[in-house]
Amino acid sequence: MSVKLFIPLLLGTTREGRYSEHVSKMILKHAKARLDIKLELFDVRDFNFPLTDEGQSIKGKNQKWKKAVEKADALIIVSPEYNHGYPGSLKMALDTLLPEYNHKAVALCGVSMGGFGGARVIEQLAGVVRRLGLVVTEKDLNISNVQMLFSKEGQLQGEFDLKMIDKFLDELVWLARSLKWGRENLISKKK
Ligand SMILES: Cc1cc2nc3c(=O)[nH]c(=O)nc-3n(C[C@H](O)[C@H](O)[C@H](O)COP(=O)(O)O)c2cc1C
Repeated sequence: MSVKLFIPLLLGTTREGRYSEHVSKMILKHAKARLDIKLELFDVRDFNFPLTDEGQSIKGKNQKWKKAVEKADALIIVSPEYNHGYPGSLKMALDTLLPEYNHKAVALCGVSMGGFGGARVIEQLAGVVRRLGLVVTEKDLNISNVQMLFSKEGQLQGEFDLKMIDKFLDELVWLARSLKWGRENLISKKK
């Protein structure tokens, strides 16, 4: 077995009572049994965004995220669907970096109270991460009716096939390994 891939998981909402936190923790807990990856939680609540600036100029204020993305082999983003889009806090967190993401794999998990499992926010995010230089997997994780799946305290109370998480992670690992090989062995002409 080769070295474990390091994969930061970005929890993309600050909302009080957020179910996306329960989903993130379910993924982290399930991934602990795997020998091929090591996940670490990053929470947009910890970014301490200033109200008077945005973008890469504030990346120095979020050294932990910067260092994690530099070291990362891939990323996971867990985003709720807010009016078919992503929370502003998630976009602000993503915008703090740019070259650090280049040619790394990302997998997207959408969370919604509705029946579409965040499919619409995932489509929106796919365009954003592409601009960031990330390469998005085809296999998403869609969590529908999340308020029925978890109690408010985060207890899994509904039916959920945990194999879905492995399928989601397997695809990410495949893409992450391919891109890692590419970054280490191929010259990129991207400017
Ligand atoms: C501002 C806002 C807009 C929302 N828009 C949608 C939506 O477009 N579709 C949907 O299925 N759920 C929508 N929801 C419900 C979220 O899907 C719900 O909050 C869900 O639990 C996932 O997000 P959470 O991590 O904030 O709990 C919205 C919630 C908020 C706060």
